[in-house]
Amino acid sequence: MWAETVAVTGAGSGIGRAVLLAAAARGARVAALDVDLSAASAAADEALTAGASGAVAVECDVSSEASVAAAFDVIGAPGAVFANAGIEVNAPLHEFPADAWERVVAVNLVGVFLTCREALRRLVEAGRGGSVVCTSSPAAFVGHAGGGNSAYAASKGGVSAFVRSAALDYAPHGIRVNAVVPGATDTAMLRVGGADLGRIREAAAAQIPLGRLGRPDEVAAAVLWLLSGESSYVTGSHLVCDGGLMAKSANDF
Ligand SMILES: NC(=O)c1ccc[n+]([C@@H]2O[C@H](COP(=O)([O-])OP(=O)(O)OC[C@H]3O[C@@H](n4cnc5c(N)ncnc54)[C@H](O)[C@@H]3O)[C@@H](O)[C@H]2O)c1
Repeated sequence: MWAETVAVTGAGSGIGRAVLLAAAARGARVAALDVDLSAASAAADEALTAGASGAVAVECDVSSEASVAAAFDVIGAPGAVFANAGIEVNAPLHEFPADAWERVVAVNLVGVFLTCREALRRLVEAGRGGSVVCTSSPAAFVGHAGGGNSAYAASKGGVSAFVRSAALDYAPHGIRVNAVVPGATDTAMLRVGGADLGRIREAAAAQIPLGRLGRPDEVAAAVLWLLSGESSYVTGSHLVCDGGLMAKSANDF
C-alpha cells in the first residue's frame, strides 16, 4: 500500500503496536520506534509475520532531541508517521512533583514536536507529500472525572493545538497533519498506577455509550485511514474513536 516507510513511535505496545501491525498487514515497510528496544523488536518481528515488506526496530526516547534525530537517521524519509508515544502520570495538582509533570509534557508534547520535526525535515526535502498523525486524547477537550490529570491533559491539549498549526504550515507541501483521539482503550496505559482492570471494564460498560472499552485494533483502523491516501482531503483534523464518550453529557434530565 505504501511505497515508503510507515514510522510509529511507541510501537512496542498498545495502540502503536496495533498501527504497526495494521500497516504491515497492508504490505507497508514499517519502522518501530520505542524507548523499550526489546518491545520494538518484538513488534517489528510480528510485523514481518503480518506481511510487512520490511521492518526495522529502533530504540528511541521521543523526549530526547538526539535520540529522535538518530532514529530518523536510521530510518530515512518515511512516507507516513504516527507520533504516538505517551505516558500518563496522575496526581492532585497541589501535590504534583514538578519533575513528574515536566516528564509527562516532555514525552507527550515535546516528543510529538521532536518526532514531527525530524519527519517533516525529511518529508519536505523528499518533496513527495506525506501524512502525519499524532495521538491526542479526550483529555485535550474534557476534564477527566477521575481527577489528577493536569499534566496529561495539558500535554494532550498541546498536541491538539500543535496539529492544527502544523497542518496549516505543511499543507503547501502536500503533507497532511491530523490527530486521532482514542477513548478508553484496552492497553497497558489503562493499568497505570496498578489500576483494577475489572473495575475499569465495569465502569466502561456503564459509562461509555457503546458499552465497552475500545480495542487497539479499532483505533489502528482509524489511524490507518488518516495515514493513507484514502484521507487525501483531510488535514488539521481530529478523528474521535471513543465509543461515544465525548458525545455524552453526564446529565440525564
Ligand atoms: N489507552 C488509552 O486509553 C488511551 C486513550 C487516549 C490516548 N492514549 C494515547 O495513546 C498513545 C499510546 O498509548 P497506549 O495506550 O498504546 O499505551 P501503552 O503504554 O500500551 O504504549 C505506550 C508505548 O510508548 C512507549 N514509550 C513510553 N515513553 C516513551 C518515550 N519516551 N519514547 C518512546 N517511546 C515511549 C512505551 O514503551 C510503550 O511501548 C499515548 O500517547 C496515549 O497517551 C491512550
